[in-house]
Amino acid sequence: MTHAAFPALRLRRTRAAAWSRALVSETRVSPADLIWPLFVTEGKGVEEPIASLPGVSRWSVDGIAARVREARDLGIPCVALFPNTPRDLRTEDGREALNPDNLMCRAIRAAKDAAPEVGILTDVALDPYTAHGHDGIVDGAGYVLNDATSNILVDQALVQAAAGADIVAPSDMMDGRVGAIRTALEREGRVNVQIMAYAAKYASAFYGPFRDAVGSGGLLKGDKKSYQMDPANAEEALREVALDLAEGADHVMVKPGLPYLDIVARVKRRFEVPVFAYAVSGEYAMIEAAATAGAGDRDALVLETLTAFKRAGCAGVLTYHAPVAARLLGNG
Ligand code: PBG
Repeated sequence: MTHAAFPALRLRRTRAAAWSRALVSETRVSPADLIWPLFVTEGKGVEEPIASLPGVSRWSVDGIAARVREARDLGIPCVALFPNTPRDLRTEDGREALNPDNLMCRAIRAAKDAAPEVGILTDVALDPYTAHGHDGIVDGAGYVLNDATSNILVDQALVQAAAGADIVAPSDMMDGRVGAIRTALEREGRVNVQIMAYAAKYASAFYGPFRDAVGSGGLLKGDKKSYQMDPANAEEALREVALDLAEGADHVMVKPGLPYLDIVARVKRRFEVPVFAYAVSGEYAMIEAAATAGAGDRDALVLETLTAFKRAGCAGVLTYHAPVAARLLGNG
């Protein structure tokens, strides 16, 4: 009788049963890993579905309050708010961003009233407020001016913090704005307002549905390549992260998400700080389109991608699938 040679190590052994797979699992996703982006619109009792983001709507302020209570009940610790500013309030300089009673600030206050235990993250950038759709002030040649923009962003962050924002998240990619915002927050005594820097934000084709959602897409003149990063670059992302951390960022974000997990992994390994990824609107739309076309199972795609984010090193993920994922994962 001959003994067939056997593999010295059978990695399939621990995969054979569900109990064993659970035991050796290296990565867990929970609702506590999720940040839910929400779009705000004017009115009362308004829900406006966004065609390019099937399943996602803009909500009036009362609806935002309801969504934030829903987040709390689902165990989602934080929501991110984005306003669809009425067209007639959009100007060259985006000054509506500094109005303490703007749509954004009213939504922040309503959210804090509705469920104070849920964190509120606010986007610091001018694109929902400018008539040209850029994140800052443009000169005659269409170039976004760095320092002039940064000065306004500081005031925007202070207005949001005064309304109750817990995390301000500059998404504009101006140089030096994290330090300027941190200095101003300290000066105003808002020492516990956190900064999540969109540190490695790429000039991406995956932002289209978001721009529909905040109403800036049709307005945008040109592209954002003079401030957002070139998708070809990784070392530059590490420099961006190093700068934002030196300027006082509490967390850093990589955006978009899935095509940039190499950046997440490198940032995590190099800096050992909380790294977040934004699974952006185009990524959400791809999963929805695939599911609708019968090319994949939505729930499985959502959970697999979230696991991949965590495995790459993310502390958490901003995702429009947050409520779907939280329901699948169960509360706590
Ligand atoms: C704007 C901003 C964008 C997103 C978040 N903040 C769009 C852009 O830079 O044009 C994109 C998010 C998404 O696509 O889901 N400052």
